[in-house]
Amino acid sequence: MPTTRQQPLRPRNEVAPMTAASRFHLKNGILHAENVPLPTLAEKFGTPLYVYSRQALHDAWDSYHSAIAGRNVIVCFGMKANSNLAVLDEFRRLGAGFDIVSGGELARVLAVGADPGKVVFSGVGKQVWEMQAALKAGVKCFNVESEAELVQLGQVAEKMNVVAPVSLRVNPDVDAHTHPYISTGLKENKFGIAIDDAVRIYQRASEIKSLHIVGVDCHIGSQITDVSPYLDALDKLIILIQTLAGLGIKLSHLDLGGGIGIRYTDETPLTPTTLLDNVFKRLAQHKLDSLQIVLEPGRSLVGNAGVLLTTVQYLKHSDARNFAIVDAAMNDLIRPTLYDAWHGVEQVCPTGNANTQIYDIVGPICESGDWLARDRRLVLEQGELLAIMSAGAYGFTMASQYNTRPRAAEIMVDNDSYHVVRPRETLESLFAGEQTLP
Ligand code: LLP
Repeated sequence: MPTTRQQPLRPRNEVAPMTAASRFHLKNGILHAENVPLPTLAEKFGTPLYVYSRQALHDAWDSYHSAIAGRNVIVCFGMKANSNLAVLDEFRRLGAGFDIVSGGELARVLAVGADPGKVVFSGVGKQVWEMQAALKAGVKCFNVESEAELVQLGQVAEKMNVVAPVSLRVNPDVDAHTHPYISTGLKENKFGIAIDDAVRIYQRASEIKSLHIVGVDCHIGSQITDVSPYLDALDKLIILIQTLAGLGIKLSHLDLGGGIGIRYTDETPLTPTTLLDNVFKRLAQHKLDSLQIVLEPGRSLVGNAGVLLTTVQYLKHSDARNFAIVDAAMNDLIRPTLYDAWHGVEQVCPTGNANTQIYDIVGPICESGDWLARDRRLVLEQGELLAIMSAGAYGFTMASQYNTRPRAAEIMVDNDSYHVVRPRETLESLFAGEQTLP
């Protein structure tokens, strides 16, 4: 893992450019979420605080919705990116299905009344109880990641006297050109079934009566900005689909996973339209465009729909560095320290003071890795409010209670109103289930 200071220095006014459609914007000199001033939320609910924009969820959904119009495509939100019930319910209402990876995620989608027929179940380590729960619910498909899992799923389904719909997650061995921790489609990754073994395992699946083969699946990585890795994977899957057809194994869907990136700083990620135009063109060339396409986007549906608000506790200057010690930490947002990820940092009430300094934005946790941003040129004062941008994906869902810190509250802004969609955890709740010894 690179831990060096790689982030480019940027003049204050250039940080985290927001797209025209951004729902987090300056109004009367104060950063707002839609029409709600962020200081109002910080005063009312305290910091650290996750704030989401309902309209931004709709904007992101619309980019998929327009891309799938007139095509046989189902969008299953990769809910590991943000699994708050309010977010799930919003996407359910908009027509999304869900990509789940655990019995816990299944419980969440069922809690919002999602249609299990639009739920795909991914993940390398599905347990028996999770398979049982998903079979009982009637999910659309299990994305099976190994031969051992296939056999186990067959046995679980047989015992329940049901037939499990399966798709094999194939590892196409392509480079998604993204961070190694979020790259999943290479041979050396733990994910999926090696493409060279896929035909044999499909044949084995076809012989298990309690399994019904419905599709093929791949997910090559996350924060992908270019269409070419998808097309490299697709080319390999097309060959597989044709080979299977020759053996009498006919698939009804092709799941291309998630992975479309977002703009954190100056990336220009591919759009759903670019992806699907290319995919359908390629499928048509092989007369395979009658296949249903499944997509599992996570980050691109929620990443830029959320910010993490935090207050500067102290400024600390040493010979080597300037630190802004804030009340959010790696337990609230682990992406910077885990992936060396870059999140924009915005002053919520910019002063216009040109007297900038270069700061590291760090949290109060007892780890040197507890940082949120490095080498940022900012004008900062003790007590001021900052927004860590693009925190709607893999922010709260990866949060922990390390250092016995309650997880932050989550607020959903809707035009000029707002809703607490998860209150801040109380201190008592953090150790409520624990017992001292007799
Ligand atoms: N489908 C499967 C099978 C996945 O494993 C993932 C993400 C997705 C869909 C959604 O991918 P997305 O559209 O969000 O790229 N925590 C990391 C990202 C890990 C992604 C894991 N799998 C981060 O914060 O960057």
